[in-house]
Amino acid sequence: MKIAMVASESNPLVKSGGLADVIYSLSRELVGMGHEVMILIPYYKGIDARLLKKPEYRGNYVFNMSWRDCCAEVFETNIDGIRFVLVKNDRYFGRDNLYGYFDDGERFAFFDMAVRGILPMLDFKPDIIHTHDWQAAMMPVLIKTENKNDPFYAKTKYVLTIHNPAFKGMLDPAALDNLYNLPYLLYKDGSTEFEGRVSTLKAGIVYSDKITTVSPTHRDELLTEEGSFGLSGVLKSREYDFCGFVNGIDVAEFNPANDKLIAKEFSAKNTVSGKKENRAALLKASFLEDSGGPLFGLVSRLTFQKGIDLVYEIMPKLLQQGAMLAVLGSGEYGLEQAFEDLRRRYPRQVSVYIGYSNKRAHEIYAASDYFLMPSSFEPCGIGQLIAQRYGTIPVVRKTGGLADTILPYNRKNADVATGISFDDYDYGGIDYATNLAMELYKDQKNFKAVRKNCLVKDNSWKKSAELYLGVYKELVG
Ligand code: GLC
Repeated sequence: MKIAMVASESNPLVKSGGLADVIYSLSRELVGMGHEVMILIPYYKGIDARLLKKPEYRGNYVFNMSWRDCCAEVFETNIDGIRFVLVKNDRYFGRDNLYGYFDDGERFAFFDMAVRGILPMLDFKPDIIHTHDWQAAMMPVLIKTENKNDPFYAKTKYVLTIHNPAFKGMLDPAALDNLYNLPYLLYKDGSTEFEGRVSTLKAGIVYSDKITTVSPTHRDELLTEEGSFGLSGVLKSREYDFCGFVNGIDVAEFNPANDKLIAKEFSAKNTVSGKKENRAALLKASFLEDSGGPLFGLVSRLTFQKGIDLVYEIMPKLLQQGAMLAVLGSGEYGLEQAFEDLRRRYPRQVSVYIGYSNKRAHEIYAASDYFLMPSSFEPCGIGQLIAQRYGTIPVVRKTGGLADTILPYNRKNADVATGISFDDYDYGGIDYATNLAMELYKDQKNFKAVRKNCLVKDNSWKKSAELYLGVYKELVG
């Protein structure tokens, strides 16, 4: 089968969040199962530094976005058997950041329209176009309306995966014509309309053949009014074409038994000594003194979605009880400052790394006892899966994929539990969960049992890749 993955980011070339992990590792798994996969992403400014070899120039695709004459330069490279196609236009993508510009709507309209023209140019006739989030969601709308009679796309089917429903690609209704050359009728008939504007994500939900999200629980949440970010109406109308599969992780990349980035490699056989050495190395590298209490790790985008405010509220209490904290991430300025504040107040127990370092991330996963992820919402979450793989017990809020990937400890189930969780997004919730974590840490027998359950849990992509393939096959027939 030929699958085109269309997304705004992908490992190993460009990443701002879990989306990049999913695009790459799912594609790799599909290639491993014998399928042809092409990943199409914008050629951002930062990509050159990540490319191991120069990509091949494959030509220009010239088109119009209403009054604009546009040109996409097409580059291609092969990574792990995946064809990576980079769509270049420096005016739109030659910038420092991936997102956050006033013209993001225009930038990704350009991208989708370019991809539609590039696939025929490269003679890659996809059985499936698998789009991800609002940035790529207009692909089926464009092709199903404008290329209705185009033999190239006659058999193509469309799958849309929702990774983050908080971002809906909101545009002025005039953008349909002004950016996409599409008729206003698509607004008037309601198919792209969302709360008086156009939402590319909603349009993708209406026009795709199947819709998925990244965990079964998040699928259920998206069908409720409170948990759907306004999308429950349209998703209910597609309920039978809508499913939820949890993400996996790349178990080769994240493997404590073979990880050159950490101080001491370890497996289920030498977890105690392995974790101990990694802890000592991390504390030393960040100038901390070992207080003897549990080490809480946090590797995350620092945004309100991730529950950072709860961590900030609860941490002083835990630090006073001897806990330690290692943070890596970047994001909203106020939240970055909150951690800087904790570090100033508890300089011997708290390390904060604002920014991204793959090595430091691995070190935190390997060294920590607990991994904090008290998200307000979490379609799937990847950090908790990586943490488990390194024998680090996730402490999470029970939402979305966090509910699906963690069996919460309840004092009686240390033989099967794979984390600690709480329900309510408030101080009481995080207080309950972290108290339980402190208590479990003192009970080393049960602590080690839970840690072991985490370490041996299968978080690979295999099962979910097969589920995606099942959806593709159902469509292609
Ligand atoms: C988004 C979601 C996260 C999910 C990731 C990959 O970042 O917030 O929960 O794991 O996409 O699907």
